[in-house]
Amino acid sequence: MKKHFYNALIEYKNLDRSSFHTPGHKGKFLSEFDLFSLDFTELPFTDSLYEASGVIKKSEESVSKLYGSEASFISSGGNTLCIQAMIRLTAKSGDKILCDRVVHRSVVSAMALLGIEPIWLKRTICEDAGLAGEIDLEDLKLKLSQHFDIKAVYLTSPSYHGVLQDVDQISLICKNYGIPVIVDNAHGSHLKFLGLHPLDLGASMTADSAHKTLPVLTGGAWLHVKDAKFKEHAKAAMSLFGSTSPSYPVMASLDICRQWLEENGEREFLLLKEQVTLVKEIASARGIFIPSELLLSDPTRIVLGVHKIGYTGFEFREKLYEFKIEPEFCDDSYVVLIPSPFNDDKDWLRLITALQSIETRKGKIKSENFEKSMSLPKIRASLFSALIADSKKVNTKDSLGETASEIICPCPPGVPVVMPGEEIGTYEKERLINYGIEEINVIKY
Ligand SMILES: Cc1ncc(COP(=O)(O)O)c(C=O)c1O
Repeated sequence: MKKHFYNALIEYKNLDRSSFHTPGHKGKFLSEFDLFSLDFTELPFTDSLYEASGVIKKSEESVSKLYGSEASFISSGGNTLCIQAMIRLTAKSGDKILCDRVVHRSVVSAMALLGIEPIWLKRTICEDAGLAGEIDLEDLKLKLSQHFDIKAVYLTSPSYHGVLQDVDQISLICKNYGIPVIVDNAHGSHLKFLGLHPLDLGASMTADSAHKTLPVLTGGAWLHVKDAKFKEHAKAAMSLFGSTSPSYPVMASLDICRQWLEENGEREFLLLKEQVTLVKEIASARGIFIPSELLLSDPTRIVLGVHKIGYTGFEFREKLYEFKIEPEFCDDSYVVLIPSPFNDDKDWLRLITALQSIETRKGKIKSENFEKSMSLPKIRASLFSALIADSKKVNTKDSLGETASEIICPCPPGVPVVMPGEEIGTYEKERLINYGIEEINVIKY
């Protein structure tokens, strides 16, 4: 029997690259547990995720205690499921959510499917980093005072590039209006152990993609509810979108991780922070730009601005391969690495050797895409109608006046140029061309 996909994965594994990408277990920690043999289904002994009353309920209660939530809920359908549930819990069809423009596609489709309209919040752009920075607080206050039908403020913190929002300050502002703050904390489950978790800073709910930075199998995530009024219907909201076949190995890995965090979380993430600080110092000394010098950031995320030493992120990743390092992500300017406490000495040695050895090039890569501010295009159709409409692909050069039916989000800065239902005006068309986007899906009228 030929197993092409399986063989390809084995082939990749045999390259023996150090994982600086998700999942956080790095192929090490969980291998000591026999998770494969625990691939059960709902049985009287094993409990049932959406009607939990036994061991799953216990696991959820324990993680709630650890994170200081009112209640926490397990997902084996990734953070996507937790985000869908947060949207369902805070707003009904016809309601509005004041929404960060830096978003994962799951929130856009959840709002579309539930008939909720976003009002987009502006972010400042950190010009020197070329990255989306903090939420524009004046814009937030203005929109909160203008729209009386807002049901929640939705933030992404941290972003893929590790940029954190001032959740404390934003929550205080929203509290004055009685509006809950809900946070896509996909990249920040570990922030609990560094005193930076959004739930501890005033958020009403967070969606934590535990598998990204913690030792959890891919797909494992937690919905944390702090505001008691969202607790009662949270399970129902999760089951609205969730598979009826949740993965028991994934759920078990969440529980193993929870136990490990209880005993080791604070110590291990402090050590990781120190290790990452050292790596950033080494990179900075070689001329690599480190955006956390300018932006409030996750102290364990390694974001290397290699454009300053003459590389695109894609070129630098090729160099990292020579040192057997696989990063999480790269773009025109940056390489993003996601480390965890399960990176071992060999991984760190490889990374440090790479950063000390890769030759810098003369001339910086000019990132002309970097912008000073963020503009919001005209809305021509609702998210729902734009996403379900018949669409056609057009050349970006011919896209003026069309209505986008997809999200186009270049990185950096990681802010969508257009969302589904938004008009491609002269400014948007110019930006799409500058970002090298050649084609775009638009509504076929
Ligand atoms: C910011 C952000 N939110 C949400 C998600 C979705 O998480 P998951 O893949 O666990 O469903 C991702 C995935 O990359 C993400 O980067």
